[in-house]
Formats: sequence, structure tokens, C-alpha cells
Amino acid sequence: MRTRVAVLVSGGGTNLQALIDAAGRGEIPHGELALVVSNNESAYALERARKAGIPTALCLRAKGEPRADFEARLLDILSQNRIDMIVLAGFMAILSADFVCRYPDRIINVHPSLIPSFCGEGFYGLRVHRAALDYGVKVTGATVHYVNEIPDGGRIICQKAVEIQPGDTPEILQRRVMEQAEWILLPRATEMVARKIMEN
Ligand code: GAR
Repeated sequence: MRTRVAVLVSGGGTNLQALIDAAGRGEIPHGELALVVSNNESAYALERARKAGIPTALCLRAKGEPRADFEARLLDILSQNRIDMIVLAGFMAILSADFVCRYPDRIINVHPSLIPSFCGEGFYGLRVHRAALDYGVKVTGATVHYVNEIPDGGRIICQKAVEIQPGDTPEILQRRVMEQAEWILLPRATEMVARKIMEN
């Protein structure tokens, strides 16, 4: 029995693809990509999951719907699928303390900067890279961390630095951080945590 992993997504899903590719190469032997959940019905990540034969689920939050109701439905989906571990891979929603305490040390997130720089509420996607360029840092990177009740505040699992180049735009920098850091770190961290869960 391997650790059953759910990947939560909202967008393009290149990090999901990195997980699918790594699993295909046998690099996640302790984890099984058992489910992909999206909070956005037009996320291309869903298509990637279908192509890879991974079951998908939609969990949409209606305008004005209390977060607790959304999270209760998400918890139902996860427990119906006997999920042991959650990977946030470009999931653009903040999970409450009530939710994260259900999966202690079993939720990880990839963030596109070197935490504690350019992180926390409001720092997601291209905004993170724009902030790094505006600040004028010469080195940025990515971080994979455990998820706790503080946005981007859980224990760091691994980080990788990426250099900023003259002429970088947020889009160019985002792509370099993905290629040189996120797509390498996330599969590795997923395997590490999946293995830990199996050994417990
Ligand atoms: C990635 O860069 C990920 O690190 C970031 O969103 C992008 C999703 O891309 N996540 C955050 O900013 C979370 N705070 P993807 O859908 O192609 O994996």
C-alpha cells in the first residue's frame, strides 16, 4: 500500500505535470497520485489529470459561500477517496486552521519564492515574481513547505535558489523558477513526505 496523494490545483497544472512525469519515471515509489481536485472548472490541470488517467473532482466555492461549507465538501471528497496526503500545486485558496489540523504534517505546498520573502496572503502566481523584480533582489527561487494555519508559514521542507537575469519580466522569471526549482523540488518533497507517512 502506498500513500494516497491528492493534488489540489486551480490553473495550468505544470507542477501537477511534473508530479505525473516523476511518478512515470518511478521517482515517487511511496506515493500514488490518487486524485486531482480543482476549485476551478476550466483549469487545464484537469485535462492533464485525465490524460494521465488520474481521477478528478471539482470543488467549487460559490460567491459568498462560507469557507467552512466549501472545506466540508472538500473534506468529504478527500475522505471518500481515502486520501492520506495533500499536495497544493498552484491551489489558489487559503485553507483554514480547522481544515489543516485534519492533516497534520500531511499537506505540502509549493511557493514560487524563497520563503520568508514574498510570501503570505496576497502573494501568489505572477504577483510573487512581480514583487521580487520590483524589490530588485538578484536571487529568488522556490520553496516547498508543510501547510499550517499561517499562509506560507509552515516548516520548510526544501528550497532552491534561482538567479534573476537582466531584462526579466514576471512571466520569464516565473518560467525559470518553475523549470529550475519548482518542478524539481515538488516531486522530491512529495516522495519524502509520502515515505514518511508510510513509515509511521
Ligand atoms: C506555481 O508557480 C506555484 O508555485 C504558484 O502558482 C503557480 C501554479 O502553476 N503557487 C502559488 O503562488 C501559491 N502561493 P501551475 O498551475 O502551472 O503549477
